[in-house]
Amino acid sequence: MSPPLFSTLLPHSVWDLGSWAAWLCLLVVLVKSSKLYVRRRWLLKALSPFDGPKCHWLYGNAQEFLKDGNDLEIMVRYAEQYPYAYTLWLGNFFGSLTICHPDYAKAVLSRQDPKDDFAYHFITPWIGKGLLVLSGQKWFQHRRLITPGFHYDVLKPYVTLMSDCVNVMLNKWENLIPDKNPVELFHHVSLMTLDTIMKCAFSYRSNCQMDSESAYIKAVYQLSHLVDYRFFCLPYHNDLIFHLSPHGFRFRRALKIAHVHTDKVIKERKQSLQEDTELEKIQKKRHLDFLDILLCAKDENGQGLSDEDLRAEVDTFMFEGHDTTASGISWVLYCLAKYPEHQEKCREEIREVLGDRSTVQWEDLGKMPYTTMCIKETMRLYPPVPEVARQLKEPITFFDGRSLPKGAIVLLCIYAINRCSSIWDEPEVFDPLRFSPENSSTRHSHAFLPFSAGGRNCIGQNFAMNEMKVAVALTLQKFELHPDPEKELKPRSLLVLRSSNGIHLNLKRID
Ligand code: HEM
Repeated sequence: MSPPLFSTLLPHSVWDLGSWAAWLCLLVVLVKSSKLYVRRRWLLKALSPFDGPKCHWLYGNAQEFLKDGNDLEIMVRYAEQYPYAYTLWLGNFFGSLTICHPDYAKAVLSRQDPKDDFAYHFITPWIGKGLLVLSGQKWFQHRRLITPGFHYDVLKPYVTLMSDCVNVMLNKWENLIPDKNPVELFHHVSLMTLDTIMKCAFSYRSNCQMDSESAYIKAVYQLSHLVDYRFFCLPYHNDLIFHLSPHGFRFRRALKIAHVHTDKVIKERKQSLQEDTELEKIQKKRHLDFLDILLCAKDENGQGLSDEDLRAEVDTFMFEGHDTTASGISWVLYCLAKYPEHQEKCREEIREVLGDRSTVQWEDLGKMPYTTMCIKETMRLYPPVPEVARQLKEPITFFDGRSLPKGAIVLLCIYAINRCSSIWDEPEVFDPLRFSPENSSTRHSHAFLPFSAGGRNCIGQNFAMNEMKVAVALTLQKFELHPDPEKELKPRSLLVLRSSNGIHLNLKRID
C-alpha cells in the first residue's frame, strides 16, 4: 500500500501506525470473508439433499417474511409444497432445515441435540445458563434437581394463587368495560401470568396487575420486549451494534434491575431458610414455592446449585413461565369468542363444576374435559411457542434416507406440524373433539407439539395447563366473549405467538 500524499506531512511513526492499522483491517476482512465463503459452501453441501423455496441471491428467503401476519401461513404453505422438510435462508450465510412433519420431528426430538446458539443468544444475558439453554451433563443435573418442583404436591396450592390472580384481572375488566369495550386482552393477561409466576416461583406479591409501574415489573416487561425487538432487527444481531445502541442501553439497565431484584429475593430466602433446609419441614409451615425447591435441591454428592445457577433458573422461570401462558390463555379466549357454540359448552361444564364459587380448586381441574379439549385444540392451531431450534451434535439420517451432517441447524416449525394435512383432517377447522381420548389414542406421538416432546419437553406443562384451565373457567363464568369484527388477528411469532395488532374481544358481563 503506497502512503497517501498527506502522509509525507505526518511524522513517520504516525504513518507506520496508520498503515499497520489499515493492513490489519484488511486482514480481518479477508479472514472473515473467507470464513463466510467456507461456511456458505459447507451449508450448500449440507442442505443439498433437501429442496426449498427459491431464494434471493443476497437476502435468501428473508424478504418473503414481511411480518404482516402472514409469515406463519407461508410456513404452512411451504409445508404443503415440501412435505417433511424444506430449506430456508436468512441472507447468504444462515441456512437451516425447517421440519414440518411429525416423522421428521420425532427423529430430532428423540435425540439430545443442544439448542441453536443463534436463537437463544439474545435471551442468555437475561436468563443465564438455566434449564432452557443448558446442554449435556449440566442440563441433565439441573433437570433432575428441578423436576421435583413440578410434582403435583407442589403444584396443588398454586391453584388458589392462580384463582386470586385471575380474579384481580377479571375485576379490572369489569371496571373497564363500561368505558372501553372491546378490550385488548394480551397486555392484561400477560400481567396476570407475571403476577402468578412471581407468587408461585418465589412467593413475591408484586401487585403488578394494579401497579405495573414497579421497577422490577417494568424491567421484566422491557426485557421481553427488547429481546423480541432485537431478534427481528437484523443490525442488532451484531453484539457491538446492539451494545452501543439506545435499545442496548435500555436492555442493560433493565437487566441490572432484574438481576439485582432476583439476587435480593434469593439472598433473603436463603437467610430465612437457615434453620429449615428440609422441604418436609418447610411444607408443614407453609406451601413450597419453586425457590424453596431450588435452594434445597442437592445432587447425590450433597452439592446444591451455585448462586449463579440459582439466579439463572429463577430468571428462566420468569421468562418461560409468563409470556408462554399469556399467549396460551389469550388465544383460547379468542377461539372461544370466535366459536360461541364451544364457548357455551365450556360454560355449561364450568357452571356444573364451580357453581357460584369464584375460586377453582385442585379437584375441579380434572372435571373439565370439554374445556381441556378446547384448550388443546387452540394450542394446536395457535401454539404459544411456534418454533424451536436445534444444532445437531451428530449427523442424522431420516427414515427416507436423506441426512444432515453434524453442526447443521434444524428449525422445528411446531405451527406447521400441528397443522400437518397428512395427519389432521381439515387442519384449519377448530374441532375440540380431535382431543377426545379415543381420537388421541391413535394419533402420531409427535403430531401435537405445543410443549415439544422427548427429554427436552416443557418441564412446566402441568403448571401451564392448570393456569390455563383456571383462567378460562373463571373468565367464562363471569363474561360472555365476542370477537371484535373490526380487528382481524395477525398471528406473529415474537418469541411467543402474539397477534401483531393485539387480541381484542368484546366482553359482556354475565349477571
Ligand atoms: C402454555 C405455556 C407453555 C408452553 C406452550 C411452553 C412450551 C415450551 C416448549 C415448546 C419448550 C421447548 C423449548 C425448546 O426446545 O427450545 C419449553 C421448554 C421449557 N419450558 Fe415451557 N411452555 C409453557 C409454559 C411454561 C411454564 C409455566 C414454565 C415454568 C414455570 C416453563 C418452563 C420451561 C422450561 C424450564 C423449559 C426448558 C426445559 C428443558 O430444556 O429441560 N414453561 N416450553
